Amino acid sequence: MYQFTEDCMTGIPMVDEEHRQLFDTIYQAFILSNQEENLSSEVKSLLLVLKQYAETHFKHEEEYMKEMNDPELPRQKREHQEFKEKLEEFPLEKPDGSDGKQVLKELLEYLSRWLYHHILGSDIMIGRFCTKVDSFEFTPKYYTGIAFVDEEHAELFSIIREANELIHRELLYDKYDEIIQILEELKDYTIHHFQDEEEYMKRIGYSGLEVQQHAHRAFVDRLNEINLDVIDENQQEYLEELVEFLRNWLVNHILRLDKLIPSE
Ligand SMILES: [Fe+2]
Ligand SMILES: [Fe+2]
Ligand SMILES: [Fe+2]
Repeated sequence: MYQFTEDCMTGIPMVDEEHRQLFDTIYQAFILSNQEENLSSEVKSLLLVLKQYAETHFKHEEEYMKEMNDPELPRQKREHQEFKEKLEEFPLEKPDGSDGKQVLKELLEYLSRWLYHHILGSDIMIGRFCTKVDSFEFTPKYYTGIAFVDEEHAELFSIIREANELIHRELLYDKYDEIIQILEELKDYTIHHFQDEEEYMKRIGYSGLEVQQHAHRAFVDRLNEINLDVIDENQQEYLEELVEFLRNWLVNHILRLDKLIPSE
């Protein structure tokens, strides 16, 4: 918990350095939270640091994404905004005579949940859209060396490829039902695959399990967010971007995390 490990790195030095600083700050606060004394002034200074951090760091990220023309920028802005609003909910001044311990505890819980989810679900994808993945082919560079994992990844690739073909098929007047169906299939299979993978990691006592779980949850949340009610003229664009995102996320996840899982 609150450890900035390599699994959390985006590969963009500025972003990674700022994330590392944030983890350090939170870790310090975590250590404090285990001490008995009155913590209200610590809570106050942590909140101030976080607000300051949010201002500068989010700005850096957003500027970088804008420069790269990253299509995920609106989502990032939204998530950053939510974070800033959440911070406002924590009282800066001593809350009703308490010693600040409870506030700090809640704050830390929120921070660790939000951070892992945001970094592993969204930040990890910054700039990844700019390096186009050549095809939907499942090639040996994705092999983890764990047979069932590779088989399931191949299946995931093939579902995404199918979705991609469906979306780009011309003259298919109403694709709605078919698209719903294939996205459902993708979601079910993804959940199934993540469960298998996590069970395996548990069984071999793999230390990267927690980060994997956070990443998996963030991806499933993404799948749950898919909203096909945008059936206006933007639907095609929405679907194209969606499929591109799903594939890129998966490729990135396999190359950066799954390939680190040891085979038995
Ligand atoms: Fe971000
Ligand atoms: Fe996987
Ligand atoms: Fe995984």
